[in-house]
Amino acid sequence: MENTSLVTYGLAGLAGLVVVSKLTQKSALDVIPTVGSSGLFGSYLGGLKFMTNASEIVREGYARYKGKPFKVAVLYRWQVIVSGPKLLEELRKSPDDELSFLEATNDSLKVEYTLGHDIHHNPYHIPIIRSQLTRNLAALFPDIRDEIVTAFEETLQLKDNEWKNVPALDAVMQIVCRTSNRIFVGLPLCRDPDWRALNIQFTMDVVKGGAIINLFPTFMAPLVAQYMTTVPASIRRGMKHLRPIIEERQRYLDEYGKEWADKPNDLLAWLMDDAEGRERSVRNLTQRILTVNFAAIHTSSNSFTQALYWLAANPQYIQPLREEVEAIVAKEGWSKGAMVKMRKVDSFLKETQRIDGIGCLSMGRKALKDFTFSDGTFVPKGTIVSVASYATHHDDTVYENADVFEPFRFADLREEEGEAVKHQMVSTNLEYLPFGHGRHACPGRFFAANELKAMLAHIVVAYDVKLEGDGPRPSNLNFGSAFGANPKAKVMFRRRKI
Ligand code: HEM
Ligand SMILES: *[C@@H]1O[C@H](CO)[C@@H](O)[C@H](O)[C@H]1NC(C)=O
Ligand SMILES: *[C@@H]1O[C@H](CO)[C@@H](O)[C@H](O)[C@H]1NC(C)=O
Ligand SMILES: *[C@@H]1O[C@H](CO)[C@@H](O)[C@H](O)[C@H]1NC(C)=O
Repeated sequence: MENTSLVTYGLAGLAGLVVVSKLTQKSALDVIPTVGSSGLFGSYLGGLKFMTNASEIVREGYARYKGKPFKVAVLYRWQVIVSGPKLLEELRKSPDDELSFLEATNDSLKVEYTLGHDIHHNPYHIPIIRSQLTRNLAALFPDIRDEIVTAFEETLQLKDNEWKNVPALDAVMQIVCRTSNRIFVGLPLCRDPDWRALNIQFTMDVVKGGAIINLFPTFMAPLVAQYMTTVPASIRRGMKHLRPIIEERQRYLDEYGKEWADKPNDLLAWLMDDAEGRERSVRNLTQRILTVNFAAIHTSSNSFTQALYWLAANPQYIQPLREEVEAIVAKEGWSKGAMVKMRKVDSFLKETQRIDGIGCLSMGRKALKDFTFSDGTFVPKGTIVSVASYATHHDDTVYENADVFEPFRFADLREEEGEAVKHQMVSTNLEYLPFGHGRHACPGRFFAANELKAMLAHIVVAYDVKLEGDGPRPSNLNFGSAFGANPKAKVMFRRRKI
């Protein structure tokens, strides 16, 4: 306790009175009940506690206020949390100029300086991800499969028939990064070690960069971004890789138009087809590719590693998955269509996201105007509102035995009449929020589900997995509302005897 308060006062001193006053100012938020500590320094302590215990604090509020909004202190300000179908629908339907997804992101990431001004004022990559990438999954499946098989082989480096203990998150990150980039930028760049390291690192650059910029007054942001973050250096490093590729493709595009022979079918090509004016510059295209990697790599890798830990801790689930995959592949071969048929594989990943997921909150929105929910809850301009997704996913009235990992629960639900579509991994609804819900629901989820299913299907037919000493499942590492798969834990792999 002594140590904790010492650290607390140290940090309080550093952050200064501005921070304390944000939480203690008289405000319209006072009428919304608080979960966690309140009072002059209490609210500040609450903000720190949220860093280590967010999911439990939100669960407590969810249970106590049963569908009514409450607020929690998040480090330096209040955040309003809503739950229940009625308020979620209102949040989902609210227009972007009232409750803004982009400005909620901008608050923590300072997007102008980290991801780039144009990317956010002109996000033309989002419809390309949602439709063109999704529509091409069948045509691109052989590439995805080829990269998965090769990436597992080269990352695991297994000898003969021996068990090998592999740092799981690192390995998965490499495999996801290669496979995704096979489709984003193609061969050979997707395998380039420096390109991979850059894209895995870039997410951290952006998150840390945003946090550093946030420590300074707004007018200093451009200077701080330029000289105190690693973002500009990373963009230059990315441009070094992409410049020759973009310039060569641009020459063909200029000479032969959009349909030149042997034109690659990848995200970079689709972006270049639609880019106009300055969007065509190497810098802008590079920032856009890095931005997509930012959205794709850590999310997919964490979700998959969490699933891998469930599998390795419960090897009894390998056999039913194996039987499903082998039966479907025997009939259909490895294809997008085969992935769609794999209901147990789908359910396993979906259940992992329900139980774990990438955070305890979802659908964060910033009020750009004063906003009033239909129950009378008044949210003043500037407030961040989000949804208690983890608490909803763990509510026994929503999911039977909600705290229990039941890998095939969604496959079973899909057997019921008319329920086949609702319970697939990519479907979002008011009770399933790992991809958000509504207008901003993750546009990459069709790509992600297909990729992660192909990876899980490959693991169960090609390898045996377990934990060393049959130990307990490695726990998540949570920071604030964000959940990560345990970054240090290892999973044992062995080539399967066929
Ligand atoms: C398992 C993996 C993934 C998870 C759990 C995930 C989760 C999410 C979530 C929660 C959101 C915000 C939704 C909201 O607030 O309503 C989001 C947005 C987004 N995701 Fe994903 N994502 C994943 C993979 C991907 C991939 C592979 C891509 C790209 C190919 C991608 C691209 C995006 C983009 C561009 C947005 C912003 C959408 C917008 O601005 O409207 N994500 N994702
Ligand atoms: C986490 O929060 C819950 C709910 O507020 C509380 O019961 C529990 O004691 C907290 N745990 C820690 C370690 O602070
Ligand atoms: C993001 O925040 C900055 C201030 O930090 C602001 O200037 C900018 O207009 C905001 N919006 C976007 C989309 O970048
Ligand atoms: C795109 O290019 C233009 C001109 O080169 C620049 O003003 C703009 O900020 C760029 N956007 C990004 C995201 O780099």
